Order: sequence, then C-alpha cells, then structure tokens
Amino acid sequence: MKLKYFSHSAFQITTNEGQIILIDPFLDDNPTCSVKSEDVTADFIVLTHAHGDHIGDAFKIAKRSNSLFICVNELANYVAGKGFNAHNMHIGGGYNFAFGHLKFTIAHHGSMTPDNFYGGEAAGVVLSIDNKILYHTGDTGLFYDMKLIGEMNDIDYMLLPIGDNFTMGINDAVKAVELVNPKTAIPMHYNTFPVINADPNEFKMKINELDKKCKVMEYGEEIEL
Ligand code: NI
Ligand code: MN
Repeated sequence: MKLKYFSHSAFQITTNEGQIILIDPFLDDNPTCSVKSEDVTADFIVLTHAHGDHIGDAFKIAKRSNSLFICVNELANYVAGKGFNAHNMHIGGGYNFAFGHLKFTIAHHGSMTPDNFYGGEAAGVVLSIDNKILYHTGDTGLFYDMKLIGEMNDIDYMLLPIGDNFTMGINDAVKAVELVNPKTAIPMHYNTFPVINADPNEFKMKINELDKKCKVMEYGEEIEL
C-alpha cells in the first residue's frame, strides 16, 4: 500500500491491487496543496466530517471517477442527495470493502456542511488495508477513549492533527500518541492557514523523546507502507 499526503488532512491511499482511496480531499482551495483535483481520481472517498476543508473537492472528483463515498449516515444521505453513490455507516461500525476494512470512531468536533446542513457526528476512521492498520483521527480534540482505540487495534500509522485552534495542538497530540501507541505518528492539519500554524518538527522531537517514531510527510510526498 502507498500513502500520499496532499497536505491538511487530505491523503490518498493506493492499495497493492491498485484501488485508490481518498480521505478528506481538500485540494483546489488549499493554499498548501500543489495537486489539483482534476489530476486526481478515486474509487472510494472517505469523509471524516462535513466541513469545507474536508469535503473539499470530493464532488468534483467523484463526478469524474464515479467514486463511492463512505461517511456517517447523515453525511452519506447529504452526499446521496446530491446524486452520488454513498455507503452509510456510523460511529463504532465497521465494514469490509473491496480494499479492506473500515471502521468509524468518535471524534470531538462539529460537522456542518458548507451550505449549512447537519452532517451528523464528526468521526475518525480505522482502516485495515494490505496488513497495515491506519488510524486517521479526523478533526478532534484529545479524548481519553483514544486509549481504547489503541488497545482494540494494533495501529501502525496514526494520522493526527497538531495545528491547534480547531483541533488538538502539539502537546495534546503528543498525549494522543501516548494513548494510542501507534508504531508511527504522522502529523496533519497544520500550516494550511495562519490560525493553525504549528511546527511539525517540534511535534516530531516530542514524539521521539517518548521513544516513538514520527514521520513528517512533505506536501505531495508518497511513501510505501
Ligand atoms: Ni473540521
Ligand atoms: Mn478541519
């Protein structure tokens, strides 16, 4: 499996079989992203919540690629209402897709669509793909139940926000990594806008002080997991 970081919370997973999964594809209006949505396709689009910096260009991409959206029920209904294919799920529930297993977890955050529809609860996702387990926390504050998520899933990669203001900042994110105990932490949701400026190397240093691994992905970087 390959993991590509567009910036913000936007990632692309390419499975060993070649399926493409996008998470929160905020590209065209994202000042830190050099990839344009017209150059991206997706078999599956996972949305953690309905905010504009997470729905992003999902509809543009799905229109061209006939993607299947995977979201919590209320957001899936909103997506289906716009004429797209959606698989409705909810927090605590998992499902086996063609690419692997996906389970929604809690996140402490809001979820209103840019045109003011209620998007249900904001969520995180645990993905089991090609024998690796990824936990994309979505936008969230720190919560103690992350410990349970770590205990129930042997997380290889934890993708988590460090930008503060809307989500965890660096110190809370370090605590989150302690609770989940992933093999590698990957910071996200920082430096996109001045209000969420944060130094990923400060985060990395603090994670390394715990004798844990941290990978700061460059914008546009793709790594083999
Ligand atoms: Ni948000
Ligand atoms: Mn956000």
